Amino acid sequence: MNNNKKKERWIQHYSSSHKILLIGEGDFSFSACLAKAFRNAANMVATCLHTKGGLLVVMEMLPVRHWTSTAHLQDLEKLGCLVLYEVDVHNMNEHPDLKQMKFDVILFNFPHAGHYSWLHERDSILIRMHQDLIAAYFKTAKEMVQEEGEIHVTVRDDYPYNTWEVEKLAECAGLQLKDKVEFRQENYPGYHNKRGGNINCNKKFPLKACYTYKFTLKVSAVEISDGSEVNDSASSELTSIITTVEDLQI
Ligand SMILES: C[S@@+](CC[C@H](N)C(=O)[O-])C[C@H]1O[C@@H](n2cnc3c(N)ncnc32)[C@H](O)[C@@H]1O
Repeated sequence: MNNNKKKERWIQHYSSSHKILLIGEGDFSFSACLAKAFRNAANMVATCLHTKGGLLVVMEMLPVRHWTSTAHLQDLEKLGCLVLYEVDVHNMNEHPDLKQMKFDVILFNFPHAGHYSWLHERDSILIRMHQDLIAAYFKTAKEMVQEEGEIHVTVRDDYPYNTWEVEKLAECAGLQLKDKVEFRQENYPGYHNKRGGNINCNKKFPLKACYTYKFTLKVSAVEISDGSEVNDSASSELTSIITTVEDLQI
């Protein structure tokens, strides 16, 4: 018997033997929850869009946005998790610390393009912005996932969040749905969901009906010239969504 072999530990869909990348963390409480369940986080890379912070206090800093993050970051550090700041879904595959890595699971809980006092969640402009964010996540995550790996996204299923067409965006990116499972906050002890954005950033939002979608690379995806794989007709649809959002220049 190999006594050096570490015991595999699971929490829901996530195993201590997976190489896991977490995107768009709020106060890092979800990462900390996984790390504690595994009792070691050497298999995890936890990231956020915010800057780490320094002498000059600005809104973009994590400790300003999420002052509840301090304890979670301490836990993650103790357990050996790599924490990265300023990781943007639009170019995360080019990030110097990430570009050489491949992951078994990449996950983004509750992607959201931000809050604007002049926009409502039901407004098509904001819906397009959320779709653009998720489409960008799928596009870059695809480059970073192992061949047999999974790309997860957890979203709300109540209106208007259920109009985001997550499955269609994934299809456009050359991904296929493997599973869709209900997300229950109580399954992740210590996790506190955060609104993000500029308005009441550290506050929670209602988690009524939420689902984690698990996608894998599509087997029948067509090879295109730059080496990435994408479904032809779906690809042009995705481009049109992104172009529309870029045209708005918000
Ligand atoms: C509703 S919050 C959810 C935060 C956290 N995942 C949670 O479950 O509490 C949306 C998150 O998306 C992140 N986000 C928005 N745009 C992003 C981008 N371009 N790249 C990476 N993360 C982004 C924000 O920083 C924010 O933390």
